[in-house]
Amino acid sequence: MLIAHSIADLRQALAPYRHPAFVPTMGNLHDGHIALVRQAKPLGDVTVASIFVNRLQFLPHEDFDSYPRTWEADCAQLQAAGCDVLFAPREADLYPEPQTFKVHPDPQLADMLEGHFRPGFFVGVSTVVMKLFACVLGQTGGTAVFGKKDYQQLLVIRHMVQQFALPIKVIAGETCRAADGLALSSRNGYLGLEERQEAVALSQALKRLAQQWWMANPAQRASLEPQALDALRARGWAPDYLTVRRRVDLMPATAEDAEGTLVVLGAARLGNTRLIDNLEF
Ligand code: PAF
Repeated sequence: MLIAHSIADLRQALAPYRHPAFVPTMGNLHDGHIALVRQAKPLGDVTVASIFVNRLQFLPHEDFDSYPRTWEADCAQLQAAGCDVLFAPREADLYPEPQTFKVHPDPQLADMLEGHFRPGFFVGVSTVVMKLFACVLGQTGGTAVFGKKDYQQLLVIRHMVQQFALPIKVIAGETCRAADGLALSSRNGYLGLEERQEAVALSQALKRLAQQWWMANPAQRASLEPQALDALRARGWAPDYLTVRRRVDLMPATAEDAEGTLVVLGAARLGNTRLIDNLEF
């Protein structure tokens, strides 16, 4: 696996190829990331991953400084998964001057849910992804693979690619889960032993909400989300949202929405760890 730290080295490494398949990450890789790399492999003539902890998408009180950096283990896993090129820019390589030009996604999509609780998050994500796309896929176009675990992020990126007519195909990867159902996430590493056992309650709450949705009439549906939030609070969680939305635009589900078109999304804090998850149904 070739490792490029600078944009110039990356472009030189990719010059012989016509269709890179790209998986952007912030490192601290787990099986979910590696599944995306394996999914990307047959989609291009060279498989590229990036590791960059992007300061722009963290709020001042969030975990940018403590975000786990596990370089050696990440490289070993990428190599074993058959990644050909790893782009790992230093901050000074990707942001050599303050990033004053930014991508502002459609507020209708980006200011709700994660964007509501983490203001500016999707500006930071869209800006770095646009820049990573320019570095990795800028000469040729190509394919990029994003996990469904970050459902709203996937939609924001799809929308950005469509609106800027980028020659990039965005492919979604399924969420990988631990045996008990907890969605794999780098932030799971923050959980203490007891918290780790409790953490599965988030995916269980989403499952329950999805099951109840089709059994309830429209009047009953209105009370399902508050009930689910209360149930999590009673277990010691501090939920931000648990909500049933349309997959296509993440607007609240209505009585007309059919089975197979919805997604239930949740975000909640357990101790100091904020977890997110979702379930299509
Ligand atoms: O999903 C992530 O890990 C990050 O948001 C991404 C897409 C790599 C941008 O920093």
